[in-house]
Amino acid sequence: MTATASRYAEAYAAWRRDPEAWWARAAEGITWDRAPSRIFDPAQGLDGAPYGRWFPDAALNTSVNCLDRHVAAGRGDQAALIWDSAMEGRIETFTYAALLARVAKTAGALAALGVGHGDRVVIYMPMVPEAAIAMLACARLGAVHSVVFGGFAAAELAARIADARPKVIVSASCGLEPGRVVPYKPLLDAALALSPHQPRACLILQRAALEAALTPGRDHDLRAAEAEAAPHPPVSVAATDPLYILYTSGTTGKPKGIVRDNGGHAVALWNSMAMIYGVDAGEMFWTASDVGWVVGHSYIVYAPLLRGCTSVMFEGKPVGTPDAGIFWRMIARHGVKVLFTAPTALRAIKQQDPEGKLLAGVDLSRFEALFLAGERCDPPTATWVAGLLGKPVVDHWWQTETGWPITAGFRGYGLFPFKPGSGGRPGPGYDLAALDDNGAVLGAGATGNLALRLPLPPGCAPTLWGDDAGYRRAYLADFPGWYRTGDAGSVDADGDVWVMGRTDDIINVAGHRLSTGAMEEVLAAHPDVAECAVVGAADALKGQVPLGLVVLKAGAARDEAAVAAELVALVRERIGPVAAFKDARVVKRLPKTRSGKILRGTIRALADGQTPTIPATIEDAAVVGEIAAVLGTR
Ligand code: COA
Ligand code: AMP
Repeated sequence: MTATASRYAEAYAAWRRDPEAWWARAAEGITWDRAPSRIFDPAQGLDGAPYGRWFPDAALNTSVNCLDRHVAAGRGDQAALIWDSAMEGRIETFTYAALLARVAKTAGALAALGVGHGDRVVIYMPMVPEAAIAMLACARLGAVHSVVFGGFAAAELAARIADARPKVIVSASCGLEPGRVVPYKPLLDAALALSPHQPRACLILQRAALEAALTPGRDHDLRAAEAEAAPHPPVSVAATDPLYILYTSGTTGKPKGIVRDNGGHAVALWNSMAMIYGVDAGEMFWTASDVGWVVGHSYIVYAPLLRGCTSVMFEGKPVGTPDAGIFWRMIARHGVKVLFTAPTALRAIKQQDPEGKLLAGVDLSRFEALFLAGERCDPPTATWVAGLLGKPVVDHWWQTETGWPITAGFRGYGLFPFKPGSGGRPGPGYDLAALDDNGAVLGAGATGNLALRLPLPPGCAPTLWGDDAGYRRAYLADFPGWYRTGDAGSVDADGDVWVMGRTDDIINVAGHRLSTGAMEEVLAAHPDVAECAVVGAADALKGQVPLGLVVLKAGAARDEAAVAAELVALVRERIGPVAAFKDARVVKRLPKTRSGKILRGTIRALADGQTPTIPATIEDAAVVGEIAAVLGTR
């Protein structure tokens, strides 16, 4: 065994021998108001505890752990957050002392509007520092934030507002996308017109590119409210109290409210920075994602600050703002030690600068490793970027539900040999196996349902917002004693995990998680559509893109191209531009089994130009040729 493998194996074995002792040691990295005397409570059936709770008797404040304690320890003048906007052409640096002052005042502004412990605050913002400040301000009050990604449409925002029932919404006048200003405020107004729940107030950040009209009595200028507010002290909360809700795509149109608690989250994320990324206090960490996704929550905002690092926040794209060299220049400009991004960003760069000409003269001497997640990284992209940068490339696999990586390479233990296409090995905390459909553990190399033996480690979602039964149904019911990840894959003889794709109807479009079921609900609502199917088709840039096939109602004498255009517009309007739904085709009928189940796998294979294996249960095999003819032009 190599030294690396043995250091990882020792840590993993230590966790297996005594998981509670392992997590008790990790919990020493957190500043508690009341230190945990119990590490894990396996009692189930408690509210919000389908599989038990971590640190059940402890108390803390997450913003104190991210800010106050670092200032108290002498890091007040160190940069906590560097906001670099390619869209505004501006860089703003916040020291730990300055960020603490902003967060305390914003917490004061929220408190003045009646926000307190346990109240929800929806945050619908572009990639501006005020988004992170609002999140930390909620944490300071013991309030529960729910950040909604800016690329979602009004109806999706409305569904999240209706479920979370926020007292206050924090938003901005606009976001900046290449070549266009996205007016956020009209989207918020439209969402509130759709939502049965109304907040007490909205705090709006006015951006110079497009100021918004404020609704008197409801809307307030965020900057003015912050300026007038008194700094708010931290509120001590139970470790098991929720820190945030983050809605993510499930198998239906209704998004699932993933809950994250305060204590387990702080311990797991603090621990992950050194164990996985090999980054510690005072060092530069950049995650190129969006605060609207779990990657942004965990690794733009919370984990780097919990650890006392400097977090870089980037408003821009990997290409076109202004070119495919921006990531490399960002690394050099800010002395980034570790970058975390999605493979799709690298594919975009590779398409535009395959030889890495834009790397010429860029100083990467302080850069040590590139981490990838959000979707499976295709081996050619992983190999290309490793060769180009001459630095370790680490793929790691996780999901909104877990909040931190399930499998990874561990810089804290030394990295394993590079295996492009593999997501690394399970971290201490995760007992992972591939199961067959009956729940039996499969041997090395066999592909099955990737599952985690309960309990999940600290930091993973304890439940769904207000829906313990839904959590049990979605994740625990299929394989008793296990959490079903929804991914298919295998574990090889070295223990490396290969994640091959989802076993449900979730697709991954440019690293963004979307539900084809939700898109089908939108298509089915069109007055001329009799039935439909949406599948994820392979795409060289985005990994997958949605493709919709629709059958028109008998008697719908419509121009097919016009219907297709209406369907594309409808998905953009109801779900949002992030769905990247641009391809709808009218077909005479869909491939189905004799019992009427739509054969989405067959459609997917045809869309990808493969010859599908035709299931014996198909109602009429001739339909395969018909669909192939329609998709021939893809
Ligand atoms: N607010 C409003 N609109 C947004 C938005 C936001 N925050 N984010 C994206 N959109 C819009 C885009 O403008 C685009 O609209 P269009 O159809 O009018 O062009 C659409 O949503 C799709 O956006 P995106 O997925 O970003 O595609 P793109 O073609 O603009 O760019 C990439 C492609 C690969 C450069 C881009 O997807 C990317 O940087 N991906 C990285 C993914 C990532 O960080 N994922 C996080 C998980 S780790
Ligand atoms: P999200 O909840 O948005 O983070 O999406 C989680 C899903 O993205 C996972 O269930 C996987 O399907 C996919 N995913 C994330 N990271 C990886 C990875 N490194 N390799 C393969 N799939 C991944």
